[in-house]
This record gives sequence, structure tokens and C-alpha cells, in this order.
Amino acid sequence: MHGDMSDSNAAIDTSTPSIARVYDYLLGGKHYYDVDRVASEAMIDAVPETTLLAAANRSFIRRATRFLVGEARIEQILDVGSGLPSAGNVHEVAQEINPNIRVVYVDKDPIVLANGRALLTANDNTIVIEGDLRDPNAILDHPEVKQLLDFSKPIGVILGGILMHIEDEEDPNAIVTTIRDRIVSGSYIVHSGCANPGEQRAAELNEVFFQFGMGSKCFRPYEEQAAYLDQLEVIEPGLVPANQWRPSYDFPDPTNTAHGMVIGGIGRKP
Ligand SMILES: C[S@@+](CC[C@H](N)C(=O)[O-])C[C@H]1O[C@@H](n2cnc3c(N)ncnc32)[C@H](O)[C@@H]1O
Repeated sequence: MHGDMSDSNAAIDTSTPSIARVYDYLLGGKHYYDVDRVASEAMIDAVPETTLLAAANRSFIRRATRFLVGEARIEQILDVGSGLPSAGNVHEVAQEINPNIRVVYVDKDPIVLANGRALLTANDNTIVIEGDLRDPNAILDHPEVKQLLDFSKPIGVILGGILMHIEDEEDPNAIVTTIRDRIVSGSYIVHSGCANPGEQRAAELNEVFFQFGMGSKCFRPYEEQAAYLDQLEVIEPGLVPANQWRPSYDFPDPTNTAHGMVIGGIGRKP
């Protein structure tokens, strides 16, 4: 282990790469094992801008959070596939704008729970629970989720870099539809993740994800991902490369052409 984490959690599998730990490595974090470093370096060998793509996704999530809490006045957030604590966590970005914001983090990786719980001990309005997006009703019906979030009021649902890890046969569109149907009018869905803008290197990077057991359909074409925001009012500027979504001061290397491989967008339930 390369960090100073206290996760002597037996559930943590250190023999195969974990998406959460690989993402943390790419973001310059310390919560990774050797298997994660090897997978990450294979990704960087395929596409040297891989670290930039991870940073671009993270930057988009920060901007999306500011939009939800600041402009859209959302008071509660459900962040599914939240990942390991990293600079500018959703609850921290959100609390800067609304100190009373309620945030539920959900992830299926036990390492996220171990670290999230440690981070959130002193925070009554933010919790982390174990959950799998492939069973969205189990997340929405989770007792701790229902205790903190009021589903009769608008909710901001963040699906950052997660639908890319759901296989076709697991039906990502049906998962999003289930969530969309259970949130009230005025709620938002945030989507981001890798995409194939029609470039060979996106297919090559997708192949590395697949080889390391992190998903075979990570880089879906733009049109397929637009379906995730179906029946929602898509917020300007739409589902676009993350560097084009309301760019801000903290965006890394904004003119790099690799940015077409990470997209983000937000939809509002009418
Ligand atoms: C690439 S990270 C994205 C982290 C963060 N949302 C962001 O965009 O910066 C993807 C996260 O989704 C989690 N994940 C993948 N599949 C999942 C599933 N079926 N249910 C819940 N979490 C999942 C992984 O464990 C990982 O933490």
C-alpha cells in the first residue's frame, strides 16, 4: 500500500486492479496497490494523456457540483460511484456554497467505504454507503439513504465516470431510467465518462481497460451516451468534451486534443 490509509479491511482485493484505486493513481493519489499501478501505467503507455483525462473528468464533476448547488439550488446530492476521497470532494465543493447540503456517497468498492467513513466522521450531513449501481432500487431504498435524502424534493444525482463500467447486457439505459423515474421534477442527473469520438487511440485505451478487468464498453460513442440524458432538459452547453463544459480556472491543459475522450453533461427532469 502506498498511502497512509488504515484499511486493514479483509474485503479489499489487492490481486486485481480496482477502478477506484486506478483512478486515484491517475489523479496523483496514494490509495493504490502495485496491481493498480501496473494497470495505470499500461493505460498511460497506450495513451500518454490518460492522467489528463482523469483530471478532466474530476474537474467536470467539481464544476457540475457547483452548478447543482449554486445555480440550480439543489439541497441534496446522491453521488453514485463516488470514488476515493480526492482533492475537491463533492461534499466539500457543495458545502462551500451551501453549508447545509446533504450528500450521500455510494460506491461498490470497499476501499472507498473505508476511507470515506474515516473522512466523514465529523460530518452529520454526509454519509457513504456500499451500493451497486446495477441495482439502483437497492440504493434508492437503502435505509440510510432514505433517512438523509427526501425523495419528495429535487435531488442531484451524480453518475461520474461510472456508466462506462456498466456492460451493455447490464443495460445502463435501464439503470438511468429507473433513477430518472424515481426522482421528482426539478431533479438533475449528471453524467460523465470516457467516450470514443471516433479515434483509434480511444479503442486502444478501451482495450487496456478490458485487459485489466475494468470494463469492455468504457468508450461508448457520443450518440449512445446522449441516451443517458433522454427525457431530461439538457443544460447548456450539452453533453460535450469535459473541457468545453463551462470551463473554469481549474481546468487542466484545456487545448489538448485528447479531451474529446472524456465527456460530461447534465439533464434536468422537467
Ligand atoms: C472512474 S471512478 C469515478 C469517481 C468519481 N465519480 C468521479 O467522476 O470523479 C468510478 C467509480 O465508480 C465505482 N463503480 C464502478 N462500478 C460501480 C457499480 N456498479 N456500482 C457502484 N460503484 C461502481 C468504482 O468503484 C469507482 O470508484
